[in-house]
Amino acid sequence: MTDLHTVAAALTWARQALAQTHVAEPLDGPVLLAHVLGCDRAALLAHPERLLTPEQETTFRALIARRAEGVPVAYLTGRRAFFDLELLVTPDVLIPRPETEHLVELALAWARTRGGRLRLIDVGTGSGAIALALARHLPGAQVWAVDRSFAALQIARANAARHGLGERVHFLQADLLTACGGATPPFDLIVANLPYIPAPLLADLPVARHEPLLALDGGPDGLTLIRRLMAQAPRVLAAHGLLLMEIEATQGEQVTALAAQVFPGATIQVHQDYAGLPRVLSVERKG
Ligand SMILES: C[S@@+](CC[C@H](N)C(=O)[O-])C[C@H]1O[C@@H](n2cnc3c(N)ncnc32)[C@H](O)[C@@H]1O
Repeated sequence: MTDLHTVAAALTWARQALAQTHVAEPLDGPVLLAHVLGCDRAALLAHPERLLTPEQETTFRALIARRAEGVPVAYLTGRRAFFDLELLVTPDVLIPRPETEHLVELALAWARTRGGRLRLIDVGTGSGAIALALARHLPGAQVWAVDRSFAALQIARANAARHGLGERVHFLQADLLTACGGATPPFDLIVANLPYIPAPLLADLPVARHEPLLALDGGPDGLTLIRRLMAQAPRVLAAHGLLLMEIEATQGEQVTALAAQVFPGATIQVHQDYAGLPRVLSVERKG
């Protein structure tokens, strides 16, 4: 077996081992080694001669083997950066994506025009990514976060506690907005990144081998959850409130038509992400 006594030797070995796979990125080896050694990547570059203990070698070999099988780096390190938060992630939650930060930016820009004192709800919160980023940047907001998955909510709660937001974000296990409405006051802002991948495509997607199906499966045409949320939203969204939903790049026209039926007279827009792809639907309700 190749000797991995030093940082330099371990990185060379990992590069060669992962080069034979189609899943790995060039930085995967350094990220995983830094995780094992409890340092940052700059420290690896600065000290290539640093010695690994036998336990560190064994752990690193095991992580590289799992990465070669396609397990995402975030599940191996248990961490993922989102907006300006570092979040805990496990295979019970979707790994938050950079595209979703665009939804957070749109929500923050709108909320600030309203003075930031608002009631908002994140539907399908997963790791808590959207709800926690908004809670952190809108200290005057009351924040609710819903998910059907109990396991996901446990991770979201742990993330809230880590970032000192445990008192400000109220987590709820529920099916979309079914627990809201009635006596619950309306929300000024509803944000959602729901599963939107058409079910027939899932079998061929590598992502579906590792991330929870409940977070990905959007039903036969990808729009089952989006349609249901849209149908529930009118009795929960306040007058002049905003609904923001992440969508798949091909769904812009369909979701715009749906929103126009459900919210006649509303201002409806599809916003592009930084790659120029349709990514977020916004529906601003009239009075
Ligand atoms: C695409 S993931 C998004 C997670 C997180 N908001 C993010 O952006 O990283 C969708 C989330 O919706 C949740 N979900 C699926 N069906 C749901 C339902 N009927 N009601 C509430 N949440 C649901 C899943 O458990 C998953 O956490």
